[in-house]
Amino acid sequence: MAGLPGADPLVGALGKHLALIGFMGAGKSTVGRDVAERTARPFVDTDEETERLHGPIPELFERGEAEFRRLEEQVVAEALAGPPAVIALGGGAVLSEKTRQRLSAHAYTVLIEVDVDDAWERVRGSNRPLARNEEDFRRLFDSRRPIYGEAMDALADDAESVLLAALRIVIGRAILSPESFVVVDERVLALHPLEGRDRVISVPSGEDAKSLAVVERIWRELELDRDGMIIACGGGSTTDVAGFAAATYKRGLRWTAIPTTLTGMVDAAIGGKTGINTEEGKNLAGAFSFPSAVFVDRAYLATLPAEERRAGMAEVVKTGLLAGDDVWSFGEEAMIRACAAYKAGVVLSDPFELEGRRTILNLGHTFAHALETGSGYTVKHGEAVALGLLAALRLSGLETTVVEEVLRPAPVAADRDAAWAALKRDKKGEGVFVLLEAPGRPVVTAVSDDDARRALEALIRK
Ligand SMILES: NC(=O)c1ccc[n+]([C@@H]2O[C@H](COP(=O)([O-])OP(=O)(O)OC[C@H]3O[C@@H](n4cnc5c(N)ncnc54)[C@H](O)[C@@H]3O)[C@@H](O)[C@H]2O)c1
Ligand SMILES: [Zn+2]
Repeated sequence: MAGLPGADPLVGALGKHLALIGFMGAGKSTVGRDVAERTARPFVDTDEETERLHGPIPELFERGEAEFRRLEEQVVAEALAGPPAVIALGGGAVLSEKTRQRLSAHAYTVLIEVDVDDAWERVRGSNRPLARNEEDFRRLFDSRRPIYGEAMDALADDAESVLLAALRIVIGRAILSPESFVVVDERVLALHPLEGRDRVISVPSGEDAKSLAVVERIWRELELDRDGMIIACGGGSTTDVAGFAAATYKRGLRWTAIPTTLTGMVDAAIGGKTGINTEEGKNLAGAFSFPSAVFVDRAYLATLPAEERRAGMAEVVKTGLLAGDDVWSFGEEAMIRACAAYKAGVVLSDPFELEGRRTILNLGHTFAHALETGSGYTVKHGEAVALGLLAALRLSGLETTVVEEVLRPAPVAADRDAAWAALKRDKKGEGVFVLLEAPGRPVVTAVSDDDARRALEALIRK
């Protein structure tokens, strides 16, 4: 629906195919298979599909390249007519103008970059018809570049960067267009002033921002047409409230997120869930509204209090356990990239939480919410998640060393009965939890009341 004003429900690859284009030897098939698995989408490799339907590509080329391109165009058209998939296109597929038009209508197209020397090393000696002579290969590489440039929506070089691009997550400095309104956490604004900018709406620091009164004030102060844009700059509280204001103002404006906490960068700013708290509880009013872009700028982390960083690390460990990767031991940028990409993959697999796949992101959170409620919210979310992960690992029969070493959780003071009641309410009597068969293999499974209660009690101080 490009061109319409207002919020775009199909940001990036949401609801569309994710098409990978690029020169032969770029690794489109390998990356594509990986991305398909991580987004739970079907995978189509158009070269393989063409061979399956019509026979070996070298033989098809013997009948002339034009004939091969005609068959390839059909294969691509058919893949694009199916449900959202990850499609790796043959290196020359975008030479077809029809294919380029179809991609632009039905796919988010990512160019997998490769250096010509690497590409040649990978394909020389293969039986690819267009990789028999190095000079011709290099000439072809140069001649295709502008065509790829025309067809692509984003650039990437591995599965992680494809997943980030697919939800338009950009690691680096944000671009703040002057016409947009910046909704910013007041504490963040004091630490990172937006000098010379007038369209600024500052909101209370942290969770206090997530109220209807703040949303009303944002609505009142915005002076935007439906094609305007809101920029949310702050932690998860700010992106939740600003995203919700964007989703509701004039029936929905586009918005971009600039997360300033670790939690925001690896979790809260990603995935389109926005909302506020009501007197009855947290996140009880909200909407799905996907940010048009998420700018992850690590410069903000320099001022983040240690306690908030620890809270973010709890979500990092959660993600690493789900992904089966020790992301917590990576350097900061690699860690954030890996976590953001993991969440992007899960979100793309089930954007509106209709199929339950997003549920796995709640690893440790059922116990965490019970502790938060049972303590009257004196236990912070990050601390509660660290304990919740401990409970989930214990119930999974797995080692807890990672959580203990990275997060050092200690039992907290909470009302046992209130925590148990909250946990039961959260489960709506279903007794279903996210556990791990092994790191990297989350399962949604039933746990008996006895086991759940014992696991919960172990998290509460005697
Ligand atoms: N929408 C989602 O998918 C999602 C996911 C996870 C959490 N959340 C929500 O996110 C909220 C928690 O967000 P959070 O943990 O990012 O924290 P936050 O937004 O509540 O901010 C926590 C504190 O850090 C301060 N702060 C933020 N950035 C700073 C910086 N760069 N330097 C110094 N101080 C800074 C804030 O002023 C505040 O005092 C909760 O309301 C939670 O429900 C939403
Ligand atoms: Zn959380």
